[in-house]
Parts: sequence; structure tokens; C-alpha cells
Amino acid sequence: LSAEVAAETSNLSDPEAFRLNWLGRKQGRLKLISDAWLKSAPPEARKPLGIRFNQLKQQIEAALDAPAQAAPAKTVQQGIDITLPGTVRAPGIPHPLLKTMYEIETVFHHLGFSTSTGPQVESDFYNFEALNFPPNHPARDTQDTLVIARQQSRPSRDRLLMRTHTSPVQIRSMIASPPPLRIVIPGKVHRNDAADATHSPIFHQVEGLCVDTNITFSDLKGTLDHAMKALFGASVKTRFFPSFFPFTEPSADVQISCPFCGGSGCRKCKHSGWIELLGCGMVDPAVFASVDEQRKAQGFEPAYDPARISGFAFGMGVERIAMIQHGISDIGQFYSGDMRFLEQFA
Ligand code: PHE
Repeated sequence: LSAEVAAETSNLSDPEAFRLNWLGRKQGRLKLISDAWLKSAPPEARKPLGIRFNQLKQQIEAALDAPAQAAPAKTVQQGIDITLPGTVRAPGIPHPLLKTMYEIETVFHHLGFSTSTGPQVESDFYNFEALNFPPNHPARDTQDTLVIARQQSRPSRDRLLMRTHTSPVQIRSMIASPPPLRIVIPGKVHRNDAADATHSPIFHQVEGLCVDTNITFSDLKGTLDHAMKALFGASVKTRFFPSFFPFTEPSADVQISCPFCGGSGCRKCKHSGWIELLGCGMVDPAVFASVDEQRKAQGFEPAYDPARISGFAFGMGVERIAMIQHGISDIGQFYSGDMRFLEQFA
């Protein structure tokens, strides 16, 4: 019988007929053999008969379990075994940097801010001039700029560059809409910085801008204090230090109490208990002036009279915040594409 099975399976054109013939529940040959022989065999013959019966059954089942072998002409095409299960691909997840960026945006959405975006290739006017960095002003040196080649023939304000911060979108948004304005601006920015553990020539910022009547420095403090607590935990404290940005006056740098040690001092905060996290300030009247000048040039009513309107702005680095959130010490990990790193954030 074993030889018979082997002969049939060597060229199995109809596996279902083969299965019914041997394994059929009522009329299958194994059933008949079992009824006619096994059950009536004398006790001493039962064991060897049973073993051979099971071998035969396994031979038949194995032939049925190997369909590619059993019916080569039907299932194997051009060397691809189409009967194999497909490769399972893991669904994608947001990159840890984007996750942090969305998280920051969401904190401000809950405060009534909406999202604006702008181009990464920007003109000198939006990136610098309208933000009160005059041509050749030394404040430009604080943002090492990657410029687009062959722009010398253009007027200085039209020359193209890679935006060094998300602040130009403040200008674009104010030209496009009168106050009140409450926006967050997430995006990529570019600087001619050498890459090291904490710097990358391309990184991400989230900018904020709030303009209305009666906006004060306490609104700025309260908003940022709330945002830092939402991002790092309710026990985090903030403090503000005088600083300088050409487009805000007064300007401040914001520190948060170290989320690693709670402010008692550790290596992460260089034993100071505080970590510097962002820049901010009250919108400089010179910025409102260039916005209104541009609104007039584009046929809009001027709407940013500094006697009536005030605002605050802030900007933060997404990488820096994500590194603190997750205790990451090398910024390069974000851009490495290393699955072992990325899968930790799934
Ligand atoms: N644009 C500034 C920077 O990149 C940050 C900033 C934004 C400061 C808004 C004040 C207000 O350094």
C-alpha cells in the first residue's frame, strides 16, 4: 500500500480525489482497512499492524501537506512559490521627533492656537529684514545662514536662503491676517552648524505668536509656564532671564527646573538644577511697522498699530525637547534611521 501511495503522490493531479480515496470518512480506504483488519486482529498482531497503519496515514497526510511538491505545475510559477504566506510588514509609526512636535502643537491647540506653516527656502526679507535684522547687522551672525547660490544680482531683500528659524512665518501670517492671531508654527530650519552631539545643520522648531489688544508679558509667562508643565510634568517650574532677539523687546530666555533631578542638581543640568529651553519676548514695534508697510504694498489695510496692538512670540527647538523627554544624549540618533532606536518609540 505504501508503494501505491508513493506512486499516486508522485504525480498528484487531483489532491482532493486522492484525499477522499484514502482518508474519506465513510468510504476512504484507511477507514475500510481499519474496520476490516485492525479492529478484528488478534491482540498480539494489533500493535505492529497499528504502527504500519499510522505510518501509511502519515505518508498520505504528508503528501497532502506539501502542495507545492504535490502539484508543481499548478502552484509554482517562475520560481516563486505563491503558496507561501506573504511577508508581514509592520505598520509605520510617527518618528519620535514628529511625535514630540505634534505633542507641542497639541498643547497650544488646547489654548486656542492654530497651526501655520511656511516655506523652508525663504527670502532675506522674511527671514531677517522684516524681523528687524538690518542688512549687515551683527545680530545675523547668531544664525549662520546657508544661502542659495547665484543670488548676488538680486536686491538684498529678495535673495533666497534656507530659513534659519520659523520666525519668518510670523511675518507671513501677520501680512495675511489682521489680529487677533494665535498661531503655532512647526517646521524644519537650517543652519551652517557642524554636526555634533547637540547640533545638526537641519533641525526643527515650534514657534508661537499671539497678537491682540492688551497682550502683556504676563500672558507670555503664563502661557509658557503652562506649556512646560504640560510637556514635562506639573511639578516643573519655569524662570525667565533677560535676553536679546532683534524682533522682540523685551526678550527673554526661559529655563525649566531640571526634569531629571527635580532641581537638586545632576549631570544633565550641569548641577545647576535648571535647563535652558527657549527664547521669547514681546513683538518689537519695528516688526509691526514692517508688517503694515508690507500689507499696504500688497493692498491690505494696515492692522498692526503698536499703539493699539501688542503680542508675544516664542520659539523652541524640538530636538532639544525630545532629547530631554526621552533622555537621549546624541541628536544624531534621530536621523540615523536605525530601527533598533526607532522601535523603542512604537
Ligand atoms: N527665532 C529665535 C531663534 O531661532 C527664537 C525666538 C522665536 C525668540 C520667537 C523669540 C521669539 O533663535
